[in-house]
Amino acid sequence: MAQTIDGTAIAAAVRADVAEGAAAFRAQHGRAPALRVVLVGDHPASQSYVRAKARAAGEAGIDAETLARPADLSQADLLALIAGLNADDAVDGILVQLPLADAVDEGAVIRAIDPAKDVDGFHPENVGRLVLGEPTLEPCTPAGIVEMLRRSGVETAGAHAVVLGRSNIVGKPMASLLLRRGIDATVTVCHSRTRDLAEITRQADVLIAAIGRAEFVTADMVRPGATVIDVGINRVEDATRERGYRLVGDVDFQAVSEVAGAITPVPGGVGPMTIAMLLQNTLEAARRRAR
Ligand code: GUN
Repeated sequence: MAQTIDGTAIAAAVRADVAEGAAAFRAQHGRAPALRVVLVGDHPASQSYVRAKARAAGEAGIDAETLARPADLSQADLLALIAGLNADDAVDGILVQLPLADAVDEGAVIRAIDPAKDVDGFHPENVGRLVLGEPTLEPCTPAGIVEMLRRSGVETAGAHAVVLGRSNIVGKPMASLLLRRGIDATVTVCHSRTRDLAEITRQADVLIAAIGRAEFVTADMVRPGATVIDVGINRVEDATRERGYRLVGDVDFQAVSEVAGAITPVPGGVGPMTIAMLLQNTLEAARRRAR
């Protein structure tokens, strides 16, 4: 049976460190690190993520405010909102929750955020720094996965890491982070057009699933003893639950647990780490801006 990697517990440790740092920042600068979360529309999952982010930030002593706007907010109005936050010297971090409406150019919105306040690490300047191995605000989910591997004692140097998924939010930055000096993995990125997928995933020492397909990774795709990181959060219908659905990852947890050496659960794995790293990035952005 695989060891379950407790993301909630590791995230709590990160959040405690951030709370300490935020208190010190406040003592030194007379104000708390400040995060502004922009939520456009009423996407149910986004609402729930944003609530969780704002609550966690408050608990860590970060001044967090959610700016909720109606679904029909124009791109021009969204860009104006961001420009105001960029210009506000008391704001350290800006996060625009994705996805945005189809009518809005997501790339243009991300590029509008001051890179120094880009706590998601999505701005092309920060993505470039990441690929170049320069210090940057690292995308929260991949950074959280690295932190989780580190704190669980999973060896990455020379290990074969296979990333399933090539999104800008997880797959691509995950691959860049794993290649960094000090992490030193050998990285393969797979996606929907990859041939003989199971053949490749079975070679993984560390398998990271970020494809957004419920329970896609099955036991036969996993090498015995491998570390399996499940980034997926999928809602599947479940009439036995009061809310009508349950959350499952991209990995068939039950079956893969029998094969893997270590595995992250859903919920309680990567999700809490993403939030913890957002808080860490907000503190880091505040410190850099104060210098
Ligand atoms: N939507 C899903 N994940 C994320 C994330 O990490 N940041 C933002 N802004 N939106 C998301």
